[in-house]
Amino acid sequence: MGCQANIADSEKIGKLLEKYGCKKTNSQEGADFLFYNTCSIKQSAEDRIFGLNNKIRDLKRGSKKRGKLAPIGGVKVILTGCMIHYAKEELKKRLPSFDYFVDIKEITKLPKILNLSSCAKTTKEKKSDNHNPVTVKTGLSDISKVWDKAENKFSALIPISHGCDNFCTYCIVPYARGREESRPVKTIIKEVKEAVRNGAKEIWLLGQNVNSYCGKNSSADETDRTKSTLNSHLSGGDNDEITFSHLLRMVNAIRGDFWIRFTSPHPKDLSDDLIKAMAECEKFGHYLNLPVQSGNDEILKKMNRPYTMAHYKKLVSKIKKAMPNITLSTDIIVGFPGETRTQFKDSIKLAKEIGYEMIYIGKYSPRPKTAAAKLFKDNVPKEEKERRWREITDVLRKTALENHKKLVGKTMKVLIDSKQKDRFYGRTKEYNLVEIKKSPKLKIGEFANIKIEEAKAWKLKGEMEK
Ligand code: 5AD
Ligand code: SF4
Repeated sequence: MGCQANIADSEKIGKLLEKYGCKKTNSQEGADFLFYNTCSIKQSAEDRIFGLNNKIRDLKRGSKKRGKLAPIGGVKVILTGCMIHYAKEELKKRLPSFDYFVDIKEITKLPKILNLSSCAKTTKEKKSDNHNPVTVKTGLSDISKVWDKAENKFSALIPISHGCDNFCTYCIVPYARGREESRPVKTIIKEVKEAVRNGAKEIWLLGQNVNSYCGKNSSADETDRTKSTLNSHLSGGDNDEITFSHLLRMVNAIRGDFWIRFTSPHPKDLSDDLIKAMAECEKFGHYLNLPVQSGNDEILKKMNRPYTMAHYKKLVSKIKKAMPNITLSTDIIVGFPGETRTQFKDSIKLAKEIGYEMIYIGKYSPRPKTAAAKLFKDNVPKEEKERRWREITDVLRKTALENHKKLVGKTMKVLIDSKQKDRFYGRTKEYNLVEIKKSPKLKIGEFANIKIEEAKAWKLKGEMEK
């Protein structure tokens, strides 16, 4: 789930530097700082960053020509995010054109590292300033989309925990992001309220293992409604630990017209209590990404995913019973070391049986420090991983289309999130993507009632209700 956590972190970097007179820019040209908030989940994401060094070198050569436009010298390039798991020496060696390598946990030290205090200006000073403001560009693997999303005030990304203790054998996150730490309930609630006040219509609660959240009860200064909601779920008195289901109920109790989503949960931590909370919280958007990783018990064991197919399927049937309209997506890795075709077919079988709306398919790549990279040979050929990827995609195309067909003729509330040419796009409460014919009444960041007219595999098509 690196991506959304990174978007949230990029947003924080932007906000922090704005306090020091910096301004975001949409173009690398003229930027004084370039940020690369990196993802390490897959080798390909890191390769793209390692491949950037010469581009940065050329950009820096160009930047010298900017003369007066560079108030604090040439462009400075900063790498942060998951790739900090590499030793700094190695990063310096492989990315000599980069200037700083900063751990995301140390991000508050950025102004000091970048010697920014001198550019902090009051609004009055800024108005009378003829110079170009200091500009910042953040870089991510797929930066343009990500930065746009971070700018969307209607979709707030709220990290509730950082890191992960699960050590799935393929995964670099526990090494790159460290041990799991839950953020205080009070801070989370404050951030959600602020986002809602600023117009957020969708709140994403984020964590690498979001449903193992464990906060401390510090609700003393919350609103009466959140306080009483919490108290009614903590009958026992001396237990002051707040689980993810408590937190969900507390966020649900905040006043306002918004939807709640979360990612990514681990099936082992998805309790009956949480299913009940999901079903009872009217703001919870009935969409769940429940990563399964494989449909085969032996592979799951090798992945250190402590559940079986029987457990996962039972979980899904409980979820569907509690929320019959729920949209489900999952993550599946194809070509895990030693995965035979027969074992892979179990993932295909599961995908058909559950009928997912979306499957995020990862072609296995060995990651440094992980147990799988140390213990197992990456012995499924690239072409076979590609074939398995296509086979799952073929199943998904059918299941997604089947799901979508059931929605034709319905009127659904949609949060409009973008516009391309003469079409608007948005998501239903259940997170189905909808393409909408243009209408002067449609506004990005607002809800609209959309009549669904056509079902495609990857989207629904509709029109604003007259
Ligand atoms: N190879 C391929 N996919 C991976 N993922 C995590 N690590 C790897 C890896 N080494 C996938 C998992 C996870 C998602 C975020 O990325 O499916 O759920
Ligand atoms: Fe990685 Fe597993 Fe943690 Fe998810 S639960 S972040 S896959 S170690």
